[in-house]
Amino acid sequence: MTTNHHAAAATDAASAPVGIFDSGLGGLSVLRAVRAQLPNEALLYAADSAHAPYGPRDNAFIIERTLTVGEWLVSEGVKVLVVACNTATAGSIAVLRDQLPIPVIGVEPGIKPAALQSKTRVAGVLATQATLGSERFRQLLARHAADCQFICQPGHGLVDAIERCDIDSPEVIALLTRYIEPMLEAGADTLVLGCTHYPFLDAAIRRIAGDRLALVDTSVAIARQLERVLDTNGLHAPTFATPAALRLCSTNEGTHLRQLVSALLGLELPVERIVAKPCSPAPPRPPEAA
Ligand code: DGL
Repeated sequence: MTTNHHAAAATDAASAPVGIFDSGLGGLSVLRAVRAQLPNEALLYAADSAHAPYGPRDNAFIIERTLTVGEWLVSEGVKVLVVACNTATAGSIAVLRDQLPIPVIGVEPGIKPAALQSKTRVAGVLATQATLGSERFRQLLARHAADCQFICQPGHGLVDAIERCDIDSPEVIALLTRYIEPMLEAGADTLVLGCTHYPFLDAAIRRIAGDRLALVDTSVAIARQLERVLDTNGLHAPTFATPAALRLCSTNEGTHLRQLVSALLGLELPVERIVAKPCSPAPPRPPEAA
């Protein structure tokens, strides 16, 4: 290959989109931060909404789904994959890094920043059952909790509600109240939003807790991490790519994805259907705990 060909191939790779993946709509909180931090980057958002929530599922299911969508994103030409889902990261990041030929960035609950900032030394963590039960989460606490006590609460029912674009119904407020009040009673001054769906509950949490809880959301840190990975791999999009393209894709019909993107980003975009190899055999979904 000549020097010119090398340069052209490098520009092509850098012009490719960044893939952002979530079990559903939660990764849009990360996409919002990425767009603010890296406005030149074309983005391809993939929601596995037909299979959300992942939280009550077992690891085999989560690995199968994230690999299926991850491979599909690679086949669509993404240059880097952001797994914008704490649950998928906890269950499958090692497999994804092993199997996919591109850099893979994961997300994890902000235990470290919470332990650094809590004054009362009591903090709450709201995350999915799968995230809280994972070995990665256990290690995260062991590494960073220090002398801070973490009250870990699975957010049963919250992802389902957000997938329906319900962020403030009486049912959602009642669930959140049930999860958050014991944290407040125990003296928590900080709440880790350990699921990328939960930043959309920010206003509802404020209604319950006022300013008694500082909310820890890691989406800005993930955008910065993506910037570092693009730097290290020489994959920053050329600046002439502005305004960068945004493609939305989903495993379901995408009505709520379209709605949330419109509300969040003010963009009216179509949603493409993801046609990937079906998840087989799909294990039955266990009943959700109360
Ligand atoms: N956004 C996912 C996370 O960060 C939601 C998980 C789910 O689908 O239950 O954990």
